[in-house]
Amino acid sequence: MISGLAPRGQRPWWRDAVTYQIYIRSFADSNGDGIGDIGGIRSKLGYLEKLGIDAIWITPWYPSPQRDHGYDVADYLDIEPDYGGLKEGELLIREAHELGMKVIIDIVPNHTSDQHRWFQGALNSQPGSSERDRYIFRQGKGVNGELPPNNWQAVFGGPAWKRVIESDGRAGQWYLHLFAQEQPDLNWENSEVVRHFEDILKFWLDKGVDGFRIDVAHGLFKESGLPDIRRSWIERIFGRSNLTRMLSPEHKPFWDQEGVHQVYRSWRKILDSYPGDRMAVAEAWVSPASRIARYVRSDEIQNSFNFEMLTSLWKADEIRKRINNSISALAEVGAPTSWVFNNHDVVRSLDRLDLGLANHGDTTFSRQGDGSRLDIARGTLRAKSATLMALALPGCTYLYQGEELGLPEVRDIPEDRLTDPRWKMSNYADRGRDGCRVPIPWKSSPRGAFGFSNDENLTAEQAWLPPSPWWGEYSAESQEDDPNSTLNFYRKALAIRKNEPGLGDGPMEWIDAGGQVVAFSRAGGFACYINFGKEIALPKGSPVLHSSGPLSENFLPTDTAVWLREKK
Ligand code: NOJ
Repeated sequence: MISGLAPRGQRPWWRDAVTYQIYIRSFADSNGDGIGDIGGIRSKLGYLEKLGIDAIWITPWYPSPQRDHGYDVADYLDIEPDYGGLKEGELLIREAHELGMKVIIDIVPNHTSDQHRWFQGALNSQPGSSERDRYIFRQGKGVNGELPPNNWQAVFGGPAWKRVIESDGRAGQWYLHLFAQEQPDLNWENSEVVRHFEDILKFWLDKGVDGFRIDVAHGLFKESGLPDIRRSWIERIFGRSNLTRMLSPEHKPFWDQEGVHQVYRSWRKILDSYPGDRMAVAEAWVSPASRIARYVRSDEIQNSFNFEMLTSLWKADEIRKRINNSISALAEVGAPTSWVFNNHDVVRSLDRLDLGLANHGDTTFSRQGDGSRLDIARGTLRAKSATLMALALPGCTYLYQGEELGLPEVRDIPEDRLTDPRWKMSNYADRGRDGCRVPIPWKSSPRGAFGFSNDENLTAEQAWLPPSPWWGEYSAESQEDDPNSTLNFYRKALAIRKNEPGLGDGPMEWIDAGGQVVAFSRAGGFACYINFGKEIALPKGSPVLHSSGPLSENFLPTDTAVWLREKK
């Protein structure tokens, strides 16, 4: 028993919540411009209520040149006019609250857009000025400063530094961008940056948001002196590849530095000064789990995405190990763990779990695998089983739009329509993340880009990212009345979870059902079995509450998961 944990309903909502991620550009378009917007989200609140989620997380809705689809923010205190503007955002917050849903917004503190007034000011100012000090500008190396200040690479590919032209027309300093060139990194040693973000938090908390998803929460601070990345002896001898990087933990002078924790301590104080259990969730790609636990210590933020399942293969041993590690690391600090199988940055779980992809790699092939080998039926079954597991494990769960429709990764977007900066920055080696960001098919007919847009005349090609001709097969409309649809499977799972007081945060017990089965029980006689091996017999006399696929009498087939009420 986790000591001191109040019963569900009496403890903070974020300890148990199922949060649904809305990738705003691709969710629903209310004004026919081919881009999702707040009006579109408002029009689907009824759908979300019926789905049964507790909270929505909206990807960045700020004014932005959209070089990285909103993760390049030009103004943190406003909403992109194309998305509907500030007033419409306030309406959405109010309406979601009326339906009992919490609203989490994205905040992007590691970098701004290059169009942010601060960065424009920095470009128009001299080296050494207070304007430049808000970012990370440095002199280059080499005789004329023609070489980047260090050997860091951008996450999307290529060098992490760009040289600017100074007011005298000559090439001058370099600035750091860990992501796209249009996303200059802020200098978190600068007190004005620190204060500005505190004001941003208060601005949105005053507007009623319930929480923040902190983008690149493990970034912000860089190792002092910005040292070169040291290559390990394995990499020096065998070259730089994913394998050698994995074998020898890479020196990462820009991730997970101690300074970030001071920021989150002060953010926690701000969150706690508002009523209603306001929260923040960290996007911190750090490992092992004990490093993640440091972000959710009792005086820091409340929650962190647990990315363990994004890099796991569909193997019982591996999954069991990751569950144990995640839960024990977070229990040390009294924080609930979270479960994530999908988001807007990774190949959809249906494909990943079927093709055996652990979701890392530098090229399209290594990230996305060979789509011709994809078995859609098996992938769908595994993805649904993973969902039953995530919803039954202790803590909270983050779902990503479209997974409730069983959407696969889209692999046939024409190259000239790819928009992810990763495509260009990887020198066209990696198609990037667009395949999981295709606009949601609400209707079966191609009109309005499969119902993505209210304007029926909008064609699929006119949507910002074009859905493929087969997209309508997955539409919400076609699944609405089918009791066996993935959509109705999710609805039932979420309804059961809501009424099971033993689910969400709290203890679990492993059940020994053989090496190829992951099985555990929760308070109230609730049990979850996921079968990774050959068909097994289930315990007799335990009523089935839900399953990811058909059961043959008392047997649980391969790749299938089941929720049971254990016999007393
Ligand atoms: C993480 C976000 O999830 C991703 O979409 C974005 O490209 C990077 N951070 C940079 O902001």
